[in-house]
Amino acid sequence: MLYSLIRPALFRLDAESAHGLALKSLKLAGTTRAPASPAALSTRVAGIRFPNPVGMAAGFDKDGEVPDALLGLGFGFAEVGSITPLPQSGNPKPRLFRLVEDRAVINRMGFNNRGAQVALQGLAARKDRPGVVGINIGANKDAADRIADYATMARLMAPLATYLAVNISSPNTPGLRALQDESALTGLLDAVLEARGEVCGEGGPPVFLKVAPDLEPADIDAIARIAVEKRLGALIVSNTTISRPALNSAHRGETGGLSGAPLRDLAQQRLRDFRKATGGAVPLVGVGGIATAEDAWARIRAGASLVQVYSAMVYEGPGIARAICKGLEALMKRDGFASIAEAVGTE
Ligand SMILES: Cc1cc2nc3c(=O)[nH]c(=O)nc-3n(C[C@H](O)[C@H](O)[C@H](O)COP(=O)(O)O)c2cc1C
Repeated sequence: MLYSLIRPALFRLDAESAHGLALKSLKLAGTTRAPASPAALSTRVAGIRFPNPVGMAAGFDKDGEVPDALLGLGFGFAEVGSITPLPQSGNPKPRLFRLVEDRAVINRMGFNNRGAQVALQGLAARKDRPGVVGINIGANKDAADRIADYATMARLMAPLATYLAVNISSPNTPGLRALQDESALTGLLDAVLEARGEVCGEGGPPVFLKVAPDLEPADIDAIARIAVEKRLGALIVSNTTISRPALNSAHRGETGGLSGAPLRDLAQQRLRDFRKATGGAVPLVGVGGIATAEDAWARIRAGASLVQVYSAMVYEGPGIARAICKGLEALMKRDGFASIAEAVGTE
């Protein structure tokens, strides 16, 4: 209700300023206690207990400044980042566009973030607080050795993360997605797992891998096989798309990754593809175009153990996690499931 009153004023600002304002408001609001989630929504994935399956996707809180405020909005987990070893300014502005008529977003931010050292300070300060906080790691655009960047980030962040998310699927860092190729991916994951082991021994947070929706069937099979082999905690399916379904907004021609409603069907199909390719052996996190409880439920039934949201929050406001959770509880009851885990992949 309140958000529908504020939204017109927010939408008069350019998208990046509005995002900055949203972050500031969350910082000011401080860290309220996360609201209790209904017991039926609690779920265990990769050894982690999630109070509910609806998470905030990476890219909203790039520097890890407000994870607890996000949990306070009712998200069951918050993924911060992508964070790179060194600070970087990203692409020239404007680089973030609302496609209002399409309920979509195009971004070519380019991993703008204040770097590992700044993020570490904030994240270390909240270390003993409860709540699932995933840390999404990336490589600097100019890194001579990108795999070494991921290893550095794993070493720095593993002690502070509930899970690590290795992001090799941003379309806005040239060449990054080539790390999804079979031999590069094996080398990358070996380096990340070894780095985690150096700082955490046998334990340490599970490693999730975030993939693009723009993959060929052979890529999907190879990634699924490697994910099983390396015992990844989960695959996050998916990042933004460089494809362009029919769009109506003035900004439809902008370069970058498309997210929001027009990504939904593609992300849902990729989720199905990965469910098939992994045979359910690796948990999946469904992300892309999820705006309602029905969207989240469809993703879960297609094989997602968890879901994440970003673009829809721009249009629906900060109450979105609570709204989806409430709706999910009703849909579970309607379809006769006692837990989320029971419903995963029953499409
Ligand atoms: C402005 C913006 C910035 C993003 N930055 C990141 C990022 O830094 N790392 C990442 O893994 N994903 C990033 N994403 C992708 C989202 O996490 C998500 O995968 C994608 O937007 C699809 O979900 P949605 O349709 O709910 O937005 C970003 C998305 C947007 C819109």
